[in-house]
Amino acid sequence: MEGQTSKVPGCKVVLLGDSGVGKTCIITRFVSSSFEANINSTNGASYCTKMVKYEELGKNLLLDVWDTAGQEKYRSLTKYFYKDAAVVILVYDITRKDSFDNMQNYWYNQLLENCGKDIVLGVAGNKCDLFESEEVDEKEAREFADKIGAIFELTSAQNNTGITEIFEQVGHKYLDPNFQQKIK
Ligand code: GTP
Repeated sequence: MEGQTSKVPGCKVVLLGDSGVGKTCIITRFVSSSFEANINSTNGASYCTKMVKYEELGKNLLLDVWDTAGQEKYRSLTKYFYKDAAVVILVYDITRKDSFDNMQNYWYNQLLENCGKDIVLGVAGNKCDLFESEEVDEKEAREFADKIGAIFELTSAQNNTGITEIFEQVGHKYLDPNFQQKIK
């Protein structure tokens, strides 16, 4: 098994966003197909891996998925985990406007300062199962994602909506030989 995975191209994927937006739950849903309502806040960072198969491309990709801490006390440390990322997924909580504002004004600016120019970007509007408490307009979020050249998905780690889709799409873009993303 190890021999097989070592031949597969790998790609570092980092999730960034405010504390509590659901980064850990998104990763757990993607990697372990499970959801836990009572979960501790992440300290520092952790990572896990999952293979994605692209049958139409005849390729597999090993995603190294990094979970980072959203809490302010870890912010000086967090940049060391994402500065060499190939893919970054910015996460906000659709029921918290502050998390959307911080994604645009803080997390995205951190990327501009610390990451390389050739990076695949995703934006995940998480907790879409709580749409009745929505504080962030989906259209506004899509416009922001378009502006920065990011793949956009509404996700719910709880209901398993959009999770596989966003990871598969960012991986697909990473494998695209024509991809020459420049952060604007
Ligand atoms: P930090 O580790 O502090 O950066 O937080 P985080 O972004 O990793 O958030 P985490 O995954 O720990 O989730 C925070 C809370 O949101 C937990 O109580 C989760 O159960 C809840 N949660 C996460 N995703 C969803 C979702 O899709 N829907 C709902 N309703 N709750 C969610």
